[in-house]
Amino acid sequence: MVPIKSFLVALATLAWQSSASPLLYSRGANGTGFVFTNANGLNFTQMNHTLPNITIFATGGTIAGSDSSSTATTGYTSGAVGVRALIDAVPSMLDIANVAGVQTANVGSEDITSDILISLSKQINKLVCDDSTMAGAVVTHGTDTLEETAFFLDATVNCGKPVIIVGAMRPSTAISADGPFNLLESVTVAASTKAKNRGAMIVMNDRIASAYYTTKTNANTMDTFKAMEMGFLGEMISNTPFFFYPPVQPTGKKDFDISNVKEIPRVDILFSYEDMHNDTLYNAVESGAKGIVIAGAGAGGVTTSFNYAMEDVINRLGIPIIQSMRTVNGEVPLSDVESNSATHIASGYLNPQKSRILLGLLLAKSSNITEIASTFALNTNA
Ligand code: SIN
Repeated sequence: MVPIKSFLVALATLAWQSSASPLLYSRGANGTGFVFTNANGLNFTQMNHTLPNITIFATGGTIAGSDSSSTATTGYTSGAVGVRALIDAVPSMLDIANVAGVQTANVGSEDITSDILISLSKQINKLVCDDSTMAGAVVTHGTDTLEETAFFLDATVNCGKPVIIVGAMRPSTAISADGPFNLLESVTVAASTKAKNRGAMIVMNDRIASAYYTTKTNANTMDTFKAMEMGFLGEMISNTPFFFYPPVQPTGKKDFDISNVKEIPRVDILFSYEDMHNDTLYNAVESGAKGIVIAGAGAGGVTTSFNYAMEDVINRLGIPIIQSMRTVNGEVPLSDVESNSATHIASGYLNPQKSRILLGLLLAKSSNITEIASTFALNTNA
């Protein structure tokens, strides 16, 4: 005898493919039971054929954080709550979309690794991009390194469907937790046809921001994600997105196909300061770094002696070094770092953490310094 669940799944799939009238599986009792499983095994708590389908990929962070005190906004446990609880906490998202959940990881974002990034990107490409029944993806994430994951997904998921990265600054147990509303807004943007072909976006605190440029600017407050010079793409008012501009891609953005990539080479970031020691550079290289990013003073600056050490590492070991900036805003132009004796690379408008992601992706494909330099040059002014 065919088990009843398999029968319902087969019936639903058949109806999905051939129905002229809306396929409607209403929400399970108290909104929690699964009523539909798609061809990739994603479970939905409702299937209303008139609504778009969205998958939430949960990775942990404060949005999934928990504490025994409702006023604690520090010292709580990140990544304590699962994707199912996140979805169930916002029943109104089911008025916007049919939602499935995937638990990709459940960690504080400082523990997101390049292996998790590769796996997350491949999951989104397979479960959302390659499935014509899916409209978009939402990724829940800790805010501390959210911009790095957002930049990685912006570069590696390029099917035009919206990919929204969302976090929260208050844990789910706090009074006025920001996670539920941020998640509702993210699902709404992911489900909007107006959000197509805009790359990955960060949706938090009623703002829609480009993953390419946006950075965390404040360690504690809710209005933390900003791209000060480039601005926001749009705003959410009463859970309705308004985009200020038509779809556009950032200048210098490079798309990557990582379907055959298994590993991202190690790239270290070194911070520039008065009296900076050269051995930090040699130690990084000896420890296995295949590329280096400098969080330079001002427009990429390092001490004179460190500059000689960089030239030695570039020329003798063929290791690319990107000079970025430790300031939150501004640009490192090539004219501020170039020399006749080594290929210095300026990060342009990319901050150190975004430069690290881009260099890692480039190194996963090729270690040719000229090719790497020409990609970074697209982000620089002079
Ligand atoms: C984290 O990044 O995982 C903790 C902090 C946060 O999510 O806001």
